[in-house]
Amino acid sequence: MAPHYLLLGFLVATCSVALASDPSSLQDFCVADPKSLVLVNGRACKDPKLAQANDFFFSGLHLAGNTSNPVGSQVTPVNVVQIPGLNTLGISLVRIDYAPLGINPPHTHPRATEILTVIEGTLEVGFVTSNPENRLITKKIQKGDVFVFPIGLIHFQRNVGNGNVVAIAALSSQNPGVITIANTVFGSNPAIPSDILAKSFQVDTKTVKMIQSKF
Ligand SMILES: *[C@@H]1O[C@H](CO)[C@@H](O)[C@H](O)[C@H]1NC(C)=O
Repeated sequence: MAPHYLLLGFLVATCSVALASDPSSLQDFCVADPKSLVLVNGRACKDPKLAQANDFFFSGLHLAGNTSNPVGSQVTPVNVVQIPGLNTLGISLVRIDYAPLGINPPHTHPRATEILTVIEGTLEVGFVTSNPENRLITKKIQKGDVFVFPIGLIHFQRNVGNGNVVAIAALSSQNPGVITIANTVFGSNPAIPSDILAKSFQVDTKTVKMIQSKF
């Protein structure tokens, strides 16, 4: 019996590692070459001998994002686009600013688990499990608290304090991707036929067209 459990355990462990983040690196680093025309999964490497400290560097996360927008939040990304040295390393960072009552609307990262810590203020955070339960797992968190959003699951945050909120989050991909539910479903280009959305959301097409006009 025991060997079967060991094999099962090994399979579970290896599979979860393989699915949880970007593929592991086969070299010290692979600084993204912005000039390369080669298409690979990720970015092509520049000559490692030409790598510089600045390839692994970003400055500016002390600066607040501009939250003057309809949702009242701003994400400042620090991923492979900002730091070419992150290529193949399976990790990135964001700063998120929230105005009072600001939200980071329901969204999902197709390629990353997110671990978020509050630097200043108080957030209501939550994520929803997949079908069939669709259970909302939610909590009020404050300065110094840490919360995890598992890969692929729809999640959100809301500023529930009196002042601004600042949060920093790390993500398990050099390029986590963001799918904001409202924007993708109601703001796609071209639009998803409104009768499909009307039946999906169990409302009339007039309501769908009204929402589509906002995106
Ligand atoms: C913030 O964004 C708003 C809306 O786009 C813009 O009007 C305003 O000038 C921006 N503020 C700063 C400080 O950049």
